[in-house]
Amino acid sequence: MIKALRGTKDILPDAIGLWQRIEATCRNIFNIYAYNEIKTPIIEEASLFTRSIGDATDIVQKEMYIFCDRGGRNIALRPEATASIVRSYIENSLFQSGGISKLFYIGPMFRAERPQQGRQRQFHQIGAEAIGSDSPLIDVEMIALSVKFLEKLAIKNFHVKLNSLGCQKDKESVIEKHKESFRPHVGKLCIDCKGRFEKNVLRIFDCKEESCREIAESVKSENALCSNCAKHFKQVKEGLDLLGIQYAIDHKIVRGLDYYTGTVFEITQESLGAKDAICAGGRYNNLVRELGGKDTPAIGFAFGVERLALALGKAEGAKGEGRRMDVFVTVAGELLYNEAFKLLDFLRSAGITSDMDYEARSLKTQLRRAEKLGVRFVVIVGEEEFKRGNIILRDMENHSQKEIAVEDIVKNII
Ligand code: HAM
Repeated sequence: MIKALRGTKDILPDAIGLWQRIEATCRNIFNIYAYNEIKTPIIEEASLFTRSIGDATDIVQKEMYIFCDRGGRNIALRPEATASIVRSYIENSLFQSGGISKLFYIGPMFRAERPQQGRQRQFHQIGAEAIGSDSPLIDVEMIALSVKFLEKLAIKNFHVKLNSLGCQKDKESVIEKHKESFRPHVGKLCIDCKGRFEKNVLRIFDCKEESCREIAESVKSENALCSNCAKHFKQVKEGLDLLGIQYAIDHKIVRGLDYYTGTVFEITQESLGAKDAICAGGRYNNLVRELGGKDTPAIGFAFGVERLALALGKAEGAKGEGRRMDVFVTVAGELLYNEAFKLLDFLRSAGITSDMDYEARSLKTQLRRAEKLGVRFVVIVGEEEFKRGNIILRDMENHSQKEIAVEDIVKNII
């Protein structure tokens, strides 16, 4: 038997209701905050990601799905969408509309990570990007939007962690400081982290080895911001206070992708464990320029949809969220199947969710199926009643039934 690939999952019909609710809530809230949906391709030129995410990162070094297509091009399954959105922003001159481009996306991403609960090789993200403003208010809006989204989904027990990496110069001095903090521990780091110490010390914070995690926890970390970046960060914190959004400053939030500058944040949720973020993001003020566009400040975030579904499922039980059926049409007598099928078509045209059994099984079997489906009403098309132009409508909630005219069916259901 061929099975789904390791780290990929089918989202089965009894879970799809939860996914639809997450997506519908996203579209509703993100639109209220004036973000427009965008869809970009799942495959891109691999260099888009190596250039933007950084070639010392785990994503690029170990996790990208890369293949050579028939034309000899180096293609990647996107590991994230920010680089794609920026590519699209530049390629389609989205800056021409003037002002800030506020975009959001929903879709699958691919990373060859070791699968575990809430970590998959094909996973889904809901993300937002605001390109074209350096205002601290946009940073605040981004965090406010992600908090509002969680609130609308009724996900509780989450924590916003905030840091600023500062501008490129500040980031370099943060890197230097971290290098000094890690230096006494180099001998105890894993082989990968020894390389990270030389190439990009911040990536040590992403290591999944327990011993490296312990060292990363223990080292001193502070941010050393220039006056401009310190002012910006102060304004972000003031804006969050203004909106009553709770957050904790955590200088260890350095993010696993190289494009970040300035404000960075993560949201963790208690039921997922402290190490796994449900949402993460930050500023990437240099990325548009680095990918060939004009100097354009930007900020964004992405939620992991599997993690949202896990947090929601833990809170309320994820099963049985598919749309409930209104009517199941049953037939007493094979000759009436065509009439029942026509009636079903009539119900559907009236917008009533309905179905029937197509296999000409006994009425008892059909009724058992209706019970199993948990429908609100069962229609019984029986010979005697049908001769009188009637059907039987059974209310499955209060277990009563009545004979009504076929043409009155809709008004008895709605
Ligand atoms: P990221 O931190 O790599 O950031 O991913 C964002 C979120 O995606 C994570 O917090 C997590 O919830 C989810 N996620 C990541 N990897 C997996 C996985 N293997 N399985 C399940 N969920 C996962 C980014 O991707 C940035 N593009 C976010 C961003 C947007 N920054 C600025 N704009």
